[in-house]
Amino acid sequence: MANNIVVIGTQWGDEGKGKIVDLLASRCAAVARFQGGHNAGHTLVLNGKKTVLHLIPSGILHETGMCYIGNGVVLSLEALEKEIEELADVVDVFSKLRISNTCALILPTHIALDNAREIQRGAKAIGTTGRGIGPAYEDKIARRAVKLSDCANSKILKEKITQLADYHNFLLENYYQQPTLSVEKIYQEVQDSYNRIKEIVTDVSVSLANINSNPDNSILFEGAQGAMLDIDHGTYPYVTSSNTAAASAATGTGLGPKDIDHVLGIAKAYTTRVGSGPFPTELFDDIGQKIATIGNEIGASTGRARRCGWFDVPVMRRAIMNSSVDSLCITKLDVLDTLQEVKICVAYDLHGTRLDIAPNNPDDFARCQPIYEIYEGWLSTTASVREYDELPEKARDYLLAIEELLGVKIDMISTSPDRNDTIILKDLITE
Ligand code: GDP
Ligand code: IMO
Ligand code: MG
Repeated sequence: MANNIVVIGTQWGDEGKGKIVDLLASRCAAVARFQGGHNAGHTLVLNGKKTVLHLIPSGILHETGMCYIGNGVVLSLEALEKEIEELADVVDVFSKLRISNTCALILPTHIALDNAREIQRGAKAIGTTGRGIGPAYEDKIARRAVKLSDCANSKILKEKITQLADYHNFLLENYYQQPTLSVEKIYQEVQDSYNRIKEIVTDVSVSLANINSNPDNSILFEGAQGAMLDIDHGTYPYVTSSNTAAASAATGTGLGPKDIDHVLGIAKAYTTRVGSGPFPTELFDDIGQKIATIGNEIGASTGRARRCGWFDVPVMRRAIMNSSVDSLCITKLDVLDTLQEVKICVAYDLHGTRLDIAPNNPDDFARCQPIYEIYEGWLSTTASVREYDELPEKARDYLLAIEELLGVKIDMISTSPDRNDTIILKDLITE
């Protein structure tokens, strides 16, 4: 039996989703992105060779199977073409990628607005990736977005881009006191770019439905960002502008929720966050620095330093609840190898009240104090271990504690950036 699996991040992004999607993709008929845009940075490593993907699904390196960008993704044609070009030596992206004609486009004015808003927020800046994601989703929800399908008719495209970019320029000039952009140039660039990629634009919902009609086929839905960056369930306003929860795999591709068989939550063995916003288990000491250095915690998209902290069970509980997480993959266990002791935040203290699950009120969340349980470090290497029995006993105790606290099974454990350095406890594709 084949399985359709949604892979999501259960923390604040960068959990190692790309590596796991790449690993699972070899036996899938399709890998589909369903939300976010090129704010994502998904790192794949095979035999020491690193590939970082932003828009293109992490199945692209495999010979078999197709990759899809679903309707829920906000699409920068410029970023797409750049990524296709960067991959040209490795893979002919045109033969493997299809893009939904209903994707909303990110225009250069969205990027200008994203940056203008950050400047205006000053000390309260969100720390966005500056990719225009928020403004593009705003226009989609406001029903004034330019869709990829609009590009097929140059008259309609010109009309729509002019209307939208004029509005953006009005805001940039009059509200944000920022330079405006040439509408004609934006139109020409979008039109030219579309003409170069139009052969891979299609109705992705129908393509996925056709693949799904064969019971031997598995589809992998690749989430971007993470549970706590969800626009509804995350640490608002310090979130991204899409729903990162597993349900988005349905709305963001056009397959129904009953076509999802399994939700795999990816979590680091500790926690990281890039950008602003509350982070109860954040470490400001040498240990945090050590984790950042050993874990190479530098953003794959923006090159920013990631903030590091202990594993946070209340956050994970909310992520598991929001996305019906069936099982977990714990990544970067090896990063903790040299620590004398390892802490798990098992609950929060909020003004004397114990909370087992992260509160959804951002003001409360910002005031939560972590309650820790301390585990002895294993002080031996787990790097590149591929068999569970070869893990040190104390590392296994740590993983068992996580399973027990969350009530969710760990099906996979990642022990290095490399695709193959992964302990697989359950074969999810053919379970
Ligand atoms: P994503 O956004 O969830 O795909 O994750 P990123 O690629 O942004 O960040 C994860 C980083 O950790 C990348 O540099 C990966 O190569 C790396 N990584 C993934 N799994 C492991 C692991 O088990 N151990 C170590 N040391 N690094 C890992
Ligand atoms: P992947 O898929 C980590 C964060 C930004 C910022 C907030 C809003 O690699 O896990 P945005 O540009 O989306 O409006 O920024 O969300 N953010 C991410 N953090 N990993 C990501 O993606 C992220 N995508 C956005 O840092 O705090
Ligand atoms: Mg990332």
